[in-house]
Amino acid sequence: MSKRVNRVALIGTGFVGSSYAFAMLNQGVTEELVLIDLNKEKSEGDAMDLNHGLPFAPSPTSIWYGDYSDCRDADIVVICAGANQKPGETRLDLVEKNTKIFKSIVDQVMNNGFDGIFLVATNPVDILTYAVWKYSGLPKERVIGSGTILDTARFRYLLGDYFQVDSRNVHGYIIGEHGDTELPVWSHADIAGKTIADWVKKKEQYKQEDLDQLFLNVRDAAYHIIERKGATYYGIAMGLVRLTKAILQNENSVLTVSAYLDGKYGQSDVYIGVPAIVNRKGIRDVIELHLNQDEQEKFTHSAEVLKKTMKPFFS
Ligand code: LAC
Repeated sequence: MSKRVNRVALIGTGFVGSSYAFAMLNQGVTEELVLIDLNKEKSEGDAMDLNHGLPFAPSPTSIWYGDYSDCRDADIVVICAGANQKPGETRLDLVEKNTKIFKSIVDQVMNNGFDGIFLVATNPVDILTYAVWKYSGLPKERVIGSGTILDTARFRYLLGDYFQVDSRNVHGYIIGEHGDTELPVWSHADIAGKTIADWVKKKEQYKQEDLDQLFLNVRDAAYHIIERKGATYYGIAMGLVRLTKAILQNENSVLTVSAYLDGKYGQSDVYIGVPAIVNRKGIRDVIELHLNQDEQEKFTHSAEVLKKTMKPFFS
């Protein structure tokens, strides 16, 4: 019996999806990558273009333009399809049009016998991850949203830049909605085991507003990028690849993803960005950080905004 190879099916080869496919190829994460999109021409072109790069890739990846029947043997289905934010639009503004698109997508995936893990990137990602869980009927731990994985990366990058330390040595989380109500967990942020409060003591001309502004730059990053180039895609694509690797390689890594809460953080029946342990089976466990009062209040507000927004679509 030959070893079953890893297969990832990507639905939606727009800016984010095609950047994800490109990053997957360059990092040699999977043996098979299927591209599925309504735009056959574009996806076929992407498959051809990516295949021509294979001689430069770290390992062989079989890439083809396929259809929903290819989801049957997929370990992971990644959904990047849907409308994205236009300048001035919030992520929550997209909920109505994208929930309709998602119903059709999930029905087609499930009707073809998929029994793996869904990864959701399309915004509003927390609500659409909830939608995929509802529509698919899969166990909650096998439906994962990119959540605040990118926001946390932005937070770590900007803190590393501010203190002139490699961002990979900065530890800190952005949790909550992947959007305007997200929050930084300052009480658990550290670099080399020393708290941010320790680090600011050594920072020349430090001002509190520096860190306040740093968080605003994290929260509003997408708006600033969209104003300049019309969309964001490289950062989120790399975050999705990180998440895919954690699953396929059974890493048990801690990543801030959009996970289902059934009581932790005082919330239930909502998908929202929290630190979670991710492995081959999906989400092994949600880590419940001890939040201070201000952080807990902000998290509760964020969850309430998500629940209020999604109520008309799932009541
Ligand atoms: C961003 C998109 C992925 O934050 O929502 O760049």
